[in-house]
Amino acid sequence: MIDMAEPKKLLRTVLGEVQKRPPIWIMRQAGRYLPEYREIRTKAKGFLDLCYTPELATEVTLQPLRRFNLDAAILFSDILVIPDALGQKVAFEQGEGPVLEALDKNKLSKMGELNVLDHLSPVLETVKSVRSSLAPDKTLIGFCGAPWTVATYMIGQRGSPDQAAARLFALEEPEAFKKLIDILVNASIDYLVAQLKAGADVVQIFESWALNLDEKAFVERVIVPNKRIVEGVRKRVPNAPIIGFPRGAAGMIARYVKETGVNVVGLDYSMPVEFADSYLPANIGVQGNLDPLRVVAGGAQMLERAEEIMTAFAKRPHIFNLGHGIVPQTSISNVEELVNFVTGN
Ligand code: CP3
Repeated sequence: MIDMAEPKKLLRTVLGEVQKRPPIWIMRQAGRYLPEYREIRTKAKGFLDLCYTPELATEVTLQPLRRFNLDAAILFSDILVIPDALGQKVAFEQGEGPVLEALDKNKLSKMGELNVLDHLSPVLETVKSVRSSLAPDKTLIGFCGAPWTVATYMIGQRGSPDQAAARLFALEEPEAFKKLIDILVNASIDYLVAQLKAGADVVQIFESWALNLDEKAFVERVIVPNKRIVEGVRKRVPNAPIIGFPRGAAGMIARYVKETGVNVVGLDYSMPVEFADSYLPANIGVQGNLDPLRVVAGGAQMLERAEEIMTAFAKRPHIFNLGHGIVPQTSISNVEELVNFVTGN
C-alpha cells in the first residue's frame, strides 16, 4: 500500500505506482563528467578517502541534483568498500580502475567474523547528512554490490572483461567460494539495513557482472544470493523497497525477478524494451535503459530512443535511467536536454 501523503515520486514508483511521466535518476550521476566533482576529487587524498569523508561525500552526492531536475540522489560511495571493510585492501589507480590485494582463502573464516559496519560508519554518516539536506520530494537511494559482482573483484583483483578468474575459482574451489559468498551476503544485509535505518528510502543491488554465466551458475551465484539479501533485509526492515540490477541477465531476467522478490528490476541497454514489457509480470517495475553512449552523442537520436523507452513502459511502474553508468566524456548540456525531455520541462 502506498501512503497517499508520500511526496517522493521515485519511491512511489518503486512501490508500484504508475506515473504519467517516469521519475528519473542516472547511474553514476555523481562523477567525473561534472567539473565540480573533479574539483572535490582533487581535495580528497584518494577515491576511498572521498567515500569515507562524510562532508565531501555529501557534497558530491548532492551535486547532480543542483544541476538537473532529478528525482533521486544516490549515496556517493562504491561497491568495493565492502572488501575494504573486510580487510582486503583496495586501491583506485588513476586511469586503471580498482586494484585489490590478493585474496587469502585461509583468512575467510576470520573475515566472516568482522562487522563491516565498524569500518563503514562514515558512509552511514553520509546517508544521514544527505537525508537532512535533501528536499522532501527527492528519494535517497542507498546501494551495495551483489555478492557475485563483488567476488569477481575480490578474486580477480581487478576488473576483467570475462571474469574468468572468479568463474574458475567458483568451479575449482567450491567450498572457499561458498564461504566468500556467505560472507558477502551477510555483510550486504547488515550494510543495506544500516543504510535504510540511516535514511535511505530505497536500496539498489548492483549485479554489474551478471553476464558471462551459464544458467546454472546464474541461479547459484546471482539469483540465490540476491534473494537471500532481499529476504534478509526485509526480515529486519519489513517491505524494504529494493531495486535489483542484474546487468546482462538476458534470458534469465524473468527468473531473476520472480525468485529474488525485488520491487524493480534494472534493465541494461541490450534488453529489448517491448520484449521486457511483455515478458515481465505486470506488477514489476522496470528501470532503464538508455545506452550511455547515446547521451555522449546527444541530439535527436538520444531523444527518439528515450521516447521509445518511455512508450514501451508507459503502462507499468518505470524509472527512467541509463542502461549502465554515465561515462566521463558525457557533456552536461546533453544530460540537461535528456532530463528535461523525460521530465517534460
Ligand atoms: O552512482 C553514483 O553516482 C554513486 C556512486 C557510485 C560509484 N561507483 C562511484 C565511483 C556507484 C553506485 C558505484 C558503483 C560501482 N562501482 C559499480 C556498479 C555499477 C557499474 O558501473 O557497473 C562497480 C562495478 C564499481 C567498481 C568501480 N568503481 C570501478 C570498476 C571503478 C573504476 C571505473 C570507473 O568508472 O572509474 C570505480 C571507481 C568509481 N566509482 C568512480 C566513481 C565516481 C571514479 C573514480 C574517480 O573519481 O577516480
